[in-house]
Amino acid sequence: MSANIVRETSLSQSDGLQFFNRGKVRDIYQTKDYLLIVTTDRISAFDVVLSDAIPQKGAVLTTLSAFWFDKIKDITPTHLITADFNQIVSKIPSLSKHKEELEKRVMLVRKVKVFPVECIVRGYLAGSGWKEYTKQGTICGIELPPGLRECDRLPSPIFTPSTKASIGHDENISFDKMVRLLGSKDAEELKNRSIKIYQKAHQYALSKGIIIADTKFEWGRIPAPNGISATNSPSGVKVALKGEKESGEIVLCDEVLTPDSSRFWPADSYSPGRGQVSFDKQFVRDYLESTNWDKSPPAPELPEEIIRKTSEKYIEAQKRLTGNC
Ligand SMILES: Nc1ncnc2c1ncn2[C@@H]1O[C@H](COP(=O)(O)OP(=O)(O)OP(=O)(O)O)[C@@H](O)[C@H]1O
Ligand SMILES: [Mg+2]
Repeated sequence: MSANIVRETSLSQSDGLQFFNRGKVRDIYQTKDYLLIVTTDRISAFDVVLSDAIPQKGAVLTTLSAFWFDKIKDITPTHLITADFNQIVSKIPSLSKHKEELEKRVMLVRKVKVFPVECIVRGYLAGSGWKEYTKQGTICGIELPPGLRECDRLPSPIFTPSTKASIGHDENISFDKMVRLLGSKDAEELKNRSIKIYQKAHQYALSKGIIIADTKFEWGRIPAPNGISATNSPSGVKVALKGEKESGEIVLCDEVLTPDSSRFWPADSYSPGRGQVSFDKQFVRDYLESTNWDKSPPAPELPEEIIRKTSEKYIEAQKRLTGNC
């Protein structure tokens, strides 16, 4: 892995790319046919992007996402075309000169219309779920058995969607609200696929000594080339014009089952009844919680040691799950 830190990229039209979007962590560009997602080393906590970057983080998130996209491809189609830099260069040759900056942190994907809902699956009682349970015995309104301890495994995984707020914090919503937003067919589909992926990933990760306590998925729909999709055709009738077989397909997008989108705990030190040590950015959150920061920007700078340890945590998660780094 190269040691260079990338906090922000500025690829341009001369590279055959158009700027598309800058998220908290990712810089996204578009070509005529695809999106190029560059995962930087930026880190956000409590929805604020920190001024520090975490070495290797972008590469870890990209490698892990590509690994999982492949592993779960029997459950769902995904947006990933390739994360192999040579293959990407074969489609966008001008990128070869950015090899040092981009290699291992870039994915070529299909552009989708992202559903405005984050699909969260929880297998354990942690974080905001634990807080709600202690107050009212529920998580996001879902009734749970009494007597559970912090970080206990739930009887079965639960689906707790939230809105995807463009500014500020996401807000938990009931499944009924999700149905009202997306319609019951899509809402059920996203829920079922999300739970299936969680179950498969949880079982696999456990065999590698990692508990995936919870995770968040994002889903999108491939738009029809002429803007008419199965659900918005004027007649309301499903349209599949010649050559448009893929139109309207729902695919898993964004990142998947990374330490940013999930809580990963080492299985060997797991012990319910307390908070767990983790491989994810809980470590950074814990540090920030120990300061007096009011969670509005700017966030405090991270001490060198927290940056180094966070980087090590991310790399270890990747090593354990994929067997390489
Ligand atoms: N295939 C895709 N087509 C279109 N948009 C996508 C696709 N995959 C992911 N996205 C969107 O790209 C953005 C990814 O950037 P990033 O992860 O930095 O955003 P963020 O959501 O602001 O950050 P965070 O992950 O901390 O919530 C998200 O808004 C995501 O919904
Ligand atoms: Mg994101």
